[in-house]
Amino acid sequence: MENHALELVDFDFDRDMDDVLAMWKEVGWCDEERTEPFVREFFQANDGRSVVARLNGRAESVAHRSLGSIKYGADRELSAGAITAVTTSRIGRRLRGASRLTARSVATLGGEGCAIALLGMFEQGFYDRFGFGVGPYEHVVRVSPGSLRVPCEYRTPERFDFENHSEELYEAVVRRHRGHGGLLIGGERAARTIVMLDQQSSVYGYRTDGVLSHWIAVEHQGEHGPDNVIAWAYETPAQCLELLRLCQEWSDQTDVIRFTEPVWLQAQDFIDAPGTNRRRTHGSKASVSTEAFAWWQIRILDLAACVRPMVAVEDPFDVVVDLSDPIGSHLVDSGYDGSWEPLTGLWRLSFSESHSAERLPDGSEAADLTTSVNALSRWWLGVLPASALAAVGQMDGDPAIFERLDLLTAHLPRPQPGWDF
Ligand SMILES: CC(C)(COP(=O)(O)OP(=O)(O)OC[C@H]1O[C@@H](n2cnc3c(N)ncnc32)[C@H](O)[C@@H]1OP(=O)(O)O)[C@@H](O)C(=O)NCCC(=O)NCCS
Repeated sequence: MENHALELVDFDFDRDMDDVLAMWKEVGWCDEERTEPFVREFFQANDGRSVVARLNGRAESVAHRSLGSIKYGADRELSAGAITAVTTSRIGRRLRGASRLTARSVATLGGEGCAIALLGMFEQGFYDRFGFGVGPYEHVVRVSPGSLRVPCEYRTPERFDFENHSEELYEAVVRRHRGHGGLLIGGERAARTIVMLDQQSSVYGYRTDGVLSHWIAVEHQGEHGPDNVIAWAYETPAQCLELLRLCQEWSDQTDVIRFTEPVWLQAQDFIDAPGTNRRRTHGSKASVSTEAFAWWQIRILDLAACVRPMVAVEDPFDVVVDLSDPIGSHLVDSGYDGSWEPLTGLWRLSFSESHSAERLPDGSEAADLTTSVNALSRWWLGVLPASALAAVGQMDGDPAIFERLDLLTAHLPRPQPGWDF
């Protein structure tokens, strides 16, 4: 008689790696010939920060997590953790494996000192159950290189690759321009495997004063594309334009190139006849357009650490928040035995020149604001203002509170990690 009870334990490379590979093949994330070595390296690179759910002696569910940091506002840096892969085999589905492993990994990131956690979602809703709120839209531009008009001179690039230049490429990732929400996660080996795992890419770059300063990793599909920009790093806007100018140069071969638009620019400014080209190519393989989609989510793990870097206010005020955090029920039977606790409860957030968050005993004060950690996280990062979250029912309280909360995030640009994770 088979036992359907999962055993949730830390990942052991020698014991679990082959099961994880089988699982990844089953969900279509790995093929034997090319990507298998990188999947192995991906699990080695996170210093054992993975957990598995075992069923009848095999790992049937796995969650992989990574540590890093995120830029808040113009110049503050907060510790961040990411859930960098969650998978359940087709044998292990609907046993709460993925849910409990995700909850345990999120709680562990909290215990490891991360102020926030992030992840990429396969669908909206699943990760809401662990307190995650959806990030803003990312714009994905599909353009014919021939219609790009990037205002900068073309220079011949150098060829790089992650087999031989991993250190240099990663140093450029660390030094790269990161705006609000800019993410640095996982370290050199993880960056290498993330770029090499999904697609067969070519890397082109430029040096400044002898040092690799900006590069672009492009997946070429056949002779005419579409080409996908799967990662890039640059220190200045001018360097980003030089990379786009490089893409423009491929127009004699590539029909379409696809990239995520950096928040600080509007790529359409450099596209010739964007309206005509969009209409003319609609529905074809070489269609050009800009699509918006929100694919990543964030949640606060350490409320005090998150409010501290927010902009100072002239008129000090307090908000008593009745906060719900849905992660708690998924930690039951997850094997998590650390000290991080879900944020459910009453909190006093105090805003002045500096800010603080203090847990209050349940029922000790009347709440000014009732909300979830999902919505609070979206407000904090500047995804939506508090007044908008209230309008759609994700926050409840006195309208005067929302006016004040809106001021705390109004100056923030649209957050963007700038790196797939
Ligand atoms: C997604 C996946 C990890 C789920 O694994 P699982 O172990 O079967 O999931 P669990 O048993 O923990 O959770 C299932 C629950 O999630 C719920 N759920 C699934 N999708 C949901 C959604 N979009 N919104 C809300 N709830 C959702 C189910 O209804 C179910 O709830 P129930 O237990 O109350 O019935 C698995 O299907 C998988 O590996 N898919 C392929 C790879 C993938 O997409 N991974 C995620 C990458 S971000």
